[in-house]
Amino acid sequence: MYDVEKIRKDFPIFNIKVNQKNNTFLDSGASAQKPQCVIDAIVDTYTKEYANVHRGSYFLSEEITYKYEQARKTVQKFLNTAKSDEIVFTRNATEAINLVASTWGKKFLSKIDEVIITELEHHANLVPWQVLRDEIGFELKICKIDDDGSFNFDEFKNMLSGKTKLVALSGMSNVLGTILPLKKIISASHKVGAKVLVDACQLAVHQKIDVQDLDCDFLAFSGHKTYGPTGIGVLYGKYDILDTMPPYQYGGDMVNIVTYQSTTYDVPPARFEAGTPAIVQAIGLAKALEYMMGLGLENIAKHEKELTLYATEKLSQIKGLKLVGTAKDKGGVFSFVVDKIHPQDLAFILNKEGISVRVGHHCAAPLVRRMGYESVVRASFGLYNTKEDIDILCQAINKAKTFF
Ligand code: ALA
Repeated sequence: MYDVEKIRKDFPIFNIKVNQKNNTFLDSGASAQKPQCVIDAIVDTYTKEYANVHRGSYFLSEEITYKYEQARKTVQKFLNTAKSDEIVFTRNATEAINLVASTWGKKFLSKIDEVIITELEHHANLVPWQVLRDEIGFELKICKIDDDGSFNFDEFKNMLSGKTKLVALSGMSNVLGTILPLKKIISASHKVGAKVLVDACQLAVHQKIDVQDLDCDFLAFSGHKTYGPTGIGVLYGKYDILDTMPPYQYGGDMVNIVTYQSTTYDVPPARFEAGTPAIVQAIGLAKALEYMMGLGLENIAKHEKELTLYATEKLSQIKGLKLVGTAKDKGGVFSFVVDKIHPQDLAFILNKEGISVRVGHHCAAPLVRRMGYESVVRASFGLYNTKEDIDILCQAINKAKTFF
């Protein structure tokens, strides 16, 4: 049984008060809280095991190199990749997407090609492609969504053609919560010869991902959203594709033979991990993923589905509240506005009640504008949230309404 009250005890942050109120944390979409086991793994590594990786022939370095590479294996298990060498550690998902744009994109895209993204994208999966388009001259096509925030598969299919070289899209919207039918999208894209990159930042938190089953070519996610530390992200790439890509950055640890005249590069993933990597962060991320897998990814998904249904029902009952994004297939991310209350004011009042929500354009300004707003309030759930959190949110919104 999924015992959420017991699970909350694993997260020390819930012991603190926020504005003298219980900590109602509803901003896991921005960054999730950390269980004690992740905090301990970080402290223990620095306390008892720390050294640099891949460089020393002494005990501490060998031990930590083993742990760092084991962390890669944990990510392999989490995503069900064919090999651990398909996992590249990056700083975050943004860097993972930039890596693909700067290496695969620069090598394989030309001005006669088309790249498709959607209206749902976070800036991280929009801006790198705009910049590359301006450099190379390919066409960047934006697939329109429906007014309720649903992905429109027919619209998408009509955009695909022999010119499509890349489809880069979010698996789950960080603003609307929309979950995309990735298998269908990937299969249709492959039929025209396009590669597919999935921004799985939100999806990885809410659903089991099996990259071999999805058959995506690239997938990116951030450690800090999956209950791990900041400063670590993951790029998954099919090995045969990674192997065709030039390095992203240059320096130590990504080379084979270096002379004053020239250099040869290592195989993936080392080719893409120049310099000292985020060693302790990778170990912390592995602990977080083990924690999630220990709870059961299906159990987490089931719990969050229940919260999503409950929040939809409860928020819909609040007069004057408009949910922004009501796709049928939607995860635990709720953006909304309330009549006569500026979103910033509402977030301010919620904060006074100990409730943390994000407000603004959520690093997806074109999407928020497309939905008809400049700013929305967003409540997003993690594996530790409860129906009571949603009740507290609804009560606080109703209280805020009395001030205006
Ligand atoms: N991408 C993060 C969010 O949606 C920061 O809040």
